[in-house]
Amino acid sequence: MAPVDEEREQVGVGPWQGEWPSDERYDPELLAEGDRRNVVDRYRYWTLEAIVADLDTRRHPFHVAIENWAHDLNIGSVVRTANAFLAAEVHIVGNRRWNRRGAMVTDRYQHVRHHPSVADLLAWAAESGLPVLGVDNLPGSVALEGYPLPRACVLLFGQESVGLSDAAREAAVDVLHIAQFGSTRSMNAGAAAAIAVHAWIAQHAGPPVQG
Ligand SMILES: C[S@@+](CC[C@H](N)C(=O)[O-])C[C@H]1O[C@@H](n2cnc3c(N)ncnc32)[C@H](O)[C@@H]1O
Repeated sequence: MAPVDEEREQVGVGPWQGEWPSDERYDPELLAEGDRRNVVDRYRYWTLEAIVADLDTRRHPFHVAIENWAHDLNIGSVVRTANAFLAAEVHIVGNRRWNRRGAMVTDRYQHVRHHPSVADLLAWAAESGLPVLGVDNLPGSVALEGYPLPRACVLLFGQESVGLSDAAREAAVDVLHIAQFGSTRSMNAGAAAAIAVHAWIAQHAGPPVQG
């Protein structure tokens, strides 16, 4: 068996073997050097722009929004989840700068929009005809389990410790909680986003495109 480090180096594919494809979606640099990105096989050797354009043809109509008042480290993970389940867009509410580490560059394939305040997000959502659903385990929240999520909607998450801001709670059509059974008060926003977004997928998405 190859040592682990050696295996890691083998992630992705090496230089293109044989005659190069003429399709302009292929990136000459990746064809020459190999493609070590964390992308599905279908997108191997494609340019970033070509991948985004292809994703744009089949994005789901749910949006993911997260409040960013204190540079929560989980935001990157929320963005990665949004990418994995093909959200229409990601919305960062509050500070423009956010910690990208957990996103593992998935934000490059995602449309990320910034709103300085919850009021700005709400104005945009109203203009777009989208209901905003808060996701948090707050008093008065409704169980996500069994809740009929609208096809087109914004799922709005809060941040570590404080959770959804008062403005976000008041703005939400409903606040949804994910049932928990252990001793911790809550999960991190990244874990909660994965569960809530997958609830949308289970209700609305068809089978994924292969590859
Ligand atoms: C660490 S939680 C913070 C606050 C939480 N209200 C508390 O009392 O501890 C951060 C964010 O993760 C999401 N979250 C964590 N656990 C959740 C749960 N059980 N149900 C719904 N959302 C949850 C929410 O969006 C929340 O704002």
